[in-house]
Amino acid sequence: MELPFSESYRIKMVEPLRRSTRAEREKWIKEAHYNLFNLRSEQVFIDLLTDSGTGAMSDRQWSAMMLGDESYAGASSYYNLKAAIKTILGFDYFLPTHQGRAAENVLFSVLIKEDDIIPGNSHFDTTKGHIEYRKAVALDCTISEAANTQMELPFKGNMCLTKLEKALTEHHEKIPFVLVTVTNNTAGGQPVSMECIRGVRALAEKYKKPVIFDSARFAENAYFIKTREKGFENKSIKEIVAEMYSYADAMTMSSKKDAIVNIGGFIATRHKEWFDKASVYNIMFEGFVTYGGMSGRDMNALAVGLDEGTEFDYLETRIKQVAYLGELLDGYGIPYQRPAGGHAIFIDAKKVLTNVPREEFLAQTLGIELYLEAGIRGVEIGAILADRDPVTRKNRYPELELLRLAIPRRCYTDNHIAVVAAALKNVFDRRESITSGYKIVHEAPIMRHFTVELAKV
Ligand code: F0G
Repeated sequence: MELPFSESYRIKMVEPLRRSTRAEREKWIKEAHYNLFNLRSEQVFIDLLTDSGTGAMSDRQWSAMMLGDESYAGASSYYNLKAAIKTILGFDYFLPTHQGRAAENVLFSVLIKEDDIIPGNSHFDTTKGHIEYRKAVALDCTISEAANTQMELPFKGNMCLTKLEKALTEHHEKIPFVLVTVTNNTAGGQPVSMECIRGVRALAEKYKKPVIFDSARFAENAYFIKTREKGFENKSIKEIVAEMYSYADAMTMSSKKDAIVNIGGFIATRHKEWFDKASVYNIMFEGFVTYGGMSGRDMNALAVGLDEGTEFDYLETRIKQVAYLGELLDGYGIPYQRPAGGHAIFIDAKKVLTNVPREEFLAQTLGIELYLEAGIRGVEIGAILADRDPVTRKNRYPELELLRLAIPRRCYTDNHIAVVAAALKNVFDRRESITSGYKIVHEAPIMRHFTVELAKV
């Protein structure tokens, strides 16, 4: 008999989880103003809010922590991380930052000015926030098929090269760089093919523009290239990663995802001039250039995490768990962004809650229902996250209203995943009876989803 697939690690430290009653959850979510970010973690049974900084570090990472060098300048931990970045990603210059958005803040301070246009494949919200904060425009050039949740494409995170070339010709002077996000989080954790990356590079060279990768889930992207793209079957993840980054001028990284650490980020580049300019902002916003908001311990754990996170066996365990949730949902007929993504399943809330008007925040409503059902916390990727248009101040209603269930790395077992699927099925079975959602009673001027307060309609 063929042996079933199983995890490529075993567990040596555990953390208790608390169950709750529906009555408790009703009280807590009301107190949280129906914003899932406002819940206390002990009010949550299975936390799929994000896969960012929520992973379980390995024994190797914890032991690297103990060897952390906390010197203010020139710490050995900095040099360990520098060496890992050079070996795995190929960049000579790097600046540590406290997380991904800080890397965006520092690098964009150098590269973006008012009225600029930054074409990309679905800019992540902090990325878009940092672009719009500088009165520039994030121009979405993702392939149109990404908006059809039921269409199965191996690389649904791709940039549309026709849209990109149109942007490069029409707005040539205003474009400081092209941004490629791997994997494409907003489109459902969907990967970008090497063919597409090569195409972006070729177009960027034709129009003499640099290319920057938003790299939060670059290793998961490489896994999909290996398993889905012809010609890469026999390449290692590290070889694929090396090729991906050979096409980039620079990268920003939230290390809290694919490098499996709880905090951290960095900028890496091959241009000394960018590094020199960014160093000034790094010192101003983050810290001295050899720690940039990270402790020596964190930098050491990150150096190890970059290595572990680009190992095939780990990635296979990870991606197969996400796929398992997708398979269970298939069995229940629950619609989600197909195929299953790298880090999360994105439920198509528009197709589930057909009786709730879009002005009442469909995906948020579904997220609250799932929390009430079983204490499972996901996150809205819909109209609340899309924010208001910076010019008209009108609500933006994106094509997709998704409830993201992001799976932390190396944390939950497949039994937890089965509970998530069953809870969703229960909500799905009573979907017709859910006819109203929520209205906003308080919101911040930018990135409102974190702090928004809602009331029942
Ligand atoms: N880019 C992408 C593609 C991301 O998904 C994130 C964060 C960032 C940049 C910013 O990084 O959080 O370290 O400052 N995504 C998290 C998420 C928050 O839940 O998807 P950060």
